[in-house]
Amino acid sequence: MLILGLNMFHADASAAIVLDGEVKFAIAEERLNRHKHFGGFPALAVKACLDAVGAKISDVEHVAVGQDSDANLARKVQYALTNPARILNFIRLRRRKEAMRDLRFLIGQALDADPAKLRFQEHHLEHHIAHIASSYYCSPWDKAAGFSYDGSGDFVSTMMARCEGNNIEVLDRVFLPHSLGSLYTMICEFIGYTKYGDEGKVMGLAPYGKPTYCADIEKLVALTGSAFQLDLRYFKPLGSNQGMQVLADGTVRLARHFSGRMEETFGTPREPHTEIAQRDMDLAFAVQQRFEEVFFHLLNQLHQHVPLDDLAMAGGCALNSVGNGKLFDRTPFRRTYIQPAAGDEGLAVGAALHTYHAVLKQPRRHQLKNAYLGPEFSDSRIQASLEAAGLECRKLDRDTLLQTVANQIVAGNVVGWFQGRMEWGPRALGNRSIVAHPGLPDMKEILNARIKHREWFRPFAPSILADHQHEYFEHDHPSPFMLHVYKIRPDKRNSLCAVNHVDDTGRLQTVARDENPLYYDLISAFHRKTGIPVILNTSFNENEPIVCTPEEAIDCFQRTRMDVLAIGPFVVKKAEQKAEVSVRAAVSEPTPGPEGSTSVSVNQERRPSNSDS
Ligand SMILES: [Fe+2]
Repeated sequence: MLILGLNMFHADASAAIVLDGEVKFAIAEERLNRHKHFGGFPALAVKACLDAVGAKISDVEHVAVGQDSDANLARKVQYALTNPARILNFIRLRRRKEAMRDLRFLIGQALDADPAKLRFQEHHLEHHIAHIASSYYCSPWDKAAGFSYDGSGDFVSTMMARCEGNNIEVLDRVFLPHSLGSLYTMICEFIGYTKYGDEGKVMGLAPYGKPTYCADIEKLVALTGSAFQLDLRYFKPLGSNQGMQVLADGTVRLARHFSGRMEETFGTPREPHTEIAQRDMDLAFAVQQRFEEVFFHLLNQLHQHVPLDDLAMAGGCALNSVGNGKLFDRTPFRRTYIQPAAGDEGLAVGAALHTYHAVLKQPRRHQLKNAYLGPEFSDSRIQASLEAAGLECRKLDRDTLLQTVANQIVAGNVVGWFQGRMEWGPRALGNRSIVAHPGLPDMKEILNARIKHREWFRPFAPSILADHQHEYFEHDHPSPFMLHVYKIRPDKRNSLCAVNHVDDTGRLQTVARDENPLYYDLISAFHRKTGIPVILNTSFNENEPIVCTPEEAIDCFQRTRMDVLAIGPFVVKKAEQKAEVSVRAAVSEPTPGPEGSTSVSVNQERRPSNSDS
């Protein structure tokens, strides 16, 4: 049975295909159309899903959407009626959503198919149930507490649930305008981070702050019984778009969240791209602290209703890896399963799996053990892409590839590592990654100056062999999808100085061999050479969606000052490109490569310097 899941006309539009209950392929539209956080219809993602399983749309029996504009309708109407000016917007939005719901037309248009001939059944699932479904049905558990929180979805910001067998029983909802996601976004905007998705940056900024404003920010959120309430005097009233607007071209734009009272209390808002003042860092510190307090309060309440060890969690706020890393100490939950695509792209998986298990009552057999659900490319395609770009490369056997790349990392070079299937979700997990030495003091600055051009305060992440986690981190709960931040042990902070954040933490990815054997073996090779079972891992991109295709990886490699590209079995060394030209000019015949090499390269193995190339 084939089920297509969709997140559409919402930030991070995506599609996923589920075959007999197993997620076979899933991708956000932004990776294909290169439009970050694209919020239109995921036409390319739908095509990619069908291609991945060799199916036609006529083979798809069910299409499930992680959005239901009828959900919580009474609450929406009630809110609109409190201010007549909102009613017109409300009606307009309803009409637009009705038009969007013509799935047959949309899919027919995307696939050049006759809508009248599409026979699938349609399912619309409330946003936060889809979030919880995306985690629970991918988890190994047959019962768990379910939790979802974000800015907003179907007029809800937070949901608590009891998950058991095939069912997700909703226990409680927090309705808009009360939203922890909105609180975080409001402070982000006030301190000059105004783009959709900037919350992660502010989470990285927070440890630079002091607790100057904690008492002030605490007052912005009151804890109530099992929920919380915002002090709405500090917020602009929500418009019809629930704080977020999707433009006709799919661009996602945030509405201004903060009111004049914020300015009266905290002074002038910071203009984007201006210098960050201590005030801004202190506000980041305070909002992160209050966010965590409310988060733990909600989880403790949930645990009273569902007193289990296991927590299945998703929603955009579940990407707050700092909060996730502390919940084991602050709540009774002992294990988490957080969907790798915890944000809204994950709704496609949640809606599809919910249809399979809860609607169609099909048994649960599959667990999502890794995040490698995207496209992969053949060696011949990669080689053709390298040739088209005019790059000389060597094709290496597996062990030589690992040794070569590990040597490059040891030498302090920055390597683009493009292997296998692309990751599902916002994190690069060793298949579309840039990797580097975690223990070189200037590596963070090198990466920022030469490739990433990110804010100075944002940390880089460590990938660690799972079996060594306890030696380096103060918590041993696994973090396979890079969604937990833990303290680094004091005696290891020097050897991880490039990934050790200002508060001595790291947002780690634990790598088990059965989840990604090649990446595990790369880290192992580095470990054998240095004694450090960790490499620095940052996403393979430069202010763009993470690269998906070989061409995008090659373009990023050429455009930035990355030293080495390891793409499939091929290795390209940028510094050697110059040498290559001169050597090739001096020979008339192809020369055998070094041991392990099967290409016609004339290069000899060497360790390039760390100089710019
Ligand atoms: Fe969401």
